[in-house]
Amino acid sequence: MNPVTTHTTLKLTRRLRRLRQSEAMRAMVRETRLSPDMFMLPLFVCEGEGIRREVPSMPGVFNLSVDEAVKEVEGAKGDGVTSVILFGLPDRKDDVGSRAYDPEAPVQAAIRAIKRVVPGVLVVTDVCLCEYTDHGHCGIVIDGEVANDPTVDQLVRVAVSHASAGADIVAPSDMMDGRVGAIRQALDERGFQNTAIMTYAAKYCSAFYGPFRDAAASAPAFGDRRSHQMDPANTDEALREVAQDIEEGADIVMVKPAATYLDVIRRVKDTFHYPTAAYHVSGEYAMLKAAARNGWIDERRAMLETLTSIHRAGADIILTYFARDAARAIA
Ligand code: PBG
Repeated sequence: MNPVTTHTTLKLTRRLRRLRQSEAMRAMVRETRLSPDMFMLPLFVCEGEGIRREVPSMPGVFNLSVDEAVKEVEGAKGDGVTSVILFGLPDRKDDVGSRAYDPEAPVQAAIRAIKRVVPGVLVVTDVCLCEYTDHGHCGIVIDGEVANDPTVDQLVRVAVSHASAGADIVAPSDMMDGRVGAIRQALDERGFQNTAIMTYAAKYCSAFYGPFRDAAASAPAFGDRRSHQMDPANTDEALREVAQDIEEGADIVMVKPAATYLDVIRRVKDTFHYPTAAYHVSGEYAMLKAAARNGWIDERRAMLETLTSIHRAGADIILTYFARDAARAIA
């Protein structure tokens, strides 16, 4: 007996497969769409000229001198990506991270150059000390601890320095208490009322930052970041972090990492209805790249599926090393 010719026709009123029959049909009912202007491209800016050094654990990601960073931003703009976030790789570090607020340091120089050469692209800056301290911690270390209040003073200097150089948005990523309010107040006092704050509000103590610490030479020389970054087990606490940062004047709130914290993104979006960003971090990028290079997954599909899931979870803005690739893929 041939089951194909002898089957019964089910009396189904609802057949959900009807709307999946063709690409035109699927596109018409698609609920979530990516667009290049939601991608923010992270860039690592180093000292020197003509430098474009690939990060070994992050294929396609480079340490760039200011001139090369400008070219990268021009390329990104050509792809439709309209925001970049800058990280600095200083050639000298000290125990208080003073190069982070040096007007002649790579990030400050890059802000000025990008603003001059590629107008229309939003320049965001990561505000933290870990790339600038010789011990690799995100703040001032006193008696083996990252001391909150003295660190906030330093972060304020960094944020003001970035705003003075022309940053559109400053993004504190340190997870000290009270830094958003302190930065807001200092910016306002100096006439930078229009400089926005995107806070790394719910930043988890994650294993997925490994390749970034390679790229930025910012791994802590001793200890870890558990005294300030969040425990991956918590989500109510993430809401408290976000509430506090909004209270202190944050304009955009971020969850980080992204793909392993989709539930947190959704709760933050549904609770606060604020512009919500998610950072698809270095380790998340490196995993996909490594699997694709081995031929184990289709890179383009895995990339778009991951970014779609982050947007679907509620993120309006996605910080991703795939920004240019993804923008080109959906063009
Ligand atoms: C700085 C900072 C880090 C990242 C963004 N800002 C590193 C860290 O907290 O150790 C990680 C980004 C990534 O992994 O892509 N504090």
